[in-house]
Amino acid sequence: MNTTKKRILTGITTTGIPHLGNYVGSIRPAIAEAHRAFENHDGDAFFFLADYHGIIKCFDPDEIHRSTRAIAATWLACGLDPEKVIFYRQSDIPEIPELAWILNCSCAKGLMNRAHAYKAAVDMNLSKEDTDPDYGISMGLFGYPVLMAADILMFNATHVPVGKDQIQHIEMARDIAGSFNFKYKPLFVEPFAVVDENTPLLTGLDGRKMSKSYGNTIPLFGDGNPQIDPEKALKKAVMQIVTNSQPPEEPKDPEHCTIFEIYKAFGTPEEIEALATHYRRGIGWGEAKEILFNKINHEIAPYRERYLHLMNNPKELEEILQMGATKARRVAQKQLDKTRRAIGIKPLAKLKS
Ligand code: TRP
Repeated sequence: MNTTKKRILTGITTTGIPHLGNYVGSIRPAIAEAHRAFENHDGDAFFFLADYHGIIKCFDPDEIHRSTRAIAATWLACGLDPEKVIFYRQSDIPEIPELAWILNCSCAKGLMNRAHAYKAAVDMNLSKEDTDPDYGISMGLFGYPVLMAADILMFNATHVPVGKDQIQHIEMARDIAGSFNFKYKPLFVEPFAVVDENTPLLTGLDGRKMSKSYGNTIPLFGDGNPQIDPEKALKKAVMQIVTNSQPPEEPKDPEHCTIFEIYKAFGTPEEIEALATHYRRGIGWGEAKEILFNKINHEIAPYRERYLHLMNNPKELEEILQMGATKARRVAQKQLDKTRRAIGIKPLAKLKS
């Protein structure tokens, strides 16, 4: 029998500046789902900035710091209500790395050997001559899934919205919960990954999946540089979308067109159909880009002001994060206390004060 309430939890690694693909694929659907759960009294939600995951792959302190600020400002600007969702920074909850250590001690090394990200790094090394298989692989990278399990199990999350590449990590969190529960005491809920097949994977400027690593992203609120007007940056990026050389009047196929692909993530079904008709009758690429820009801008312009305000007022951001940390720690301290007792770490006697 499962009487646990739905608890949604997800982490955002603090590297990079959020782009349009992050917005469509994660920020927009996650906020909608969390607020829905809150309003229907159907569960609660924990969202956090995974900065201890950030330092696994990024060794630039300024980038970690800048990215943490931009990601926090972005989620709040896009409507995340910190009264409805517990929004915090992983490193403000010292109980999480403590739990990670405890879980490390009952997690089989062999399980970590099978992690895709670690295996890919080893395979890359093996493909090069004279390279140690573990070259460049830190213990942090190797143990990444255990820290992630601690993030999730600490709060007994039931639903973890993630991208496809993270499914294996959630399965590992289930395994880790299961082996602790079996060895000691059933303290941890086994979480499920939630991968929404309906959430579009946004196409990037060059027609491949939009991704920071391809350098083909459209900025959401500019690139974090205050010198650049974010609306102009959006327009400039949309104008850079790669198209073919068909002349304006020629009928065009809306499928396999990056402009249309992105439009689909923003338009209503009627608007999408109308644009498809326009394509089939003939549309100039300049005009199509203009339509796309206006559509995206219409949705995100209202968020931009709040983003800039928060970016310029880091105190306000910090206060919101501290409020979230206080709430999250209350839950974490209880769970860690139970966990420590279960493994035999507890006071030897009660001392009278
Ligand atoms: N590893 C996740 C990613 O790269 C981020 C993350 C860290 C996370 N801890 C988490 C996601 C816990 C969900 C739950 O996307």
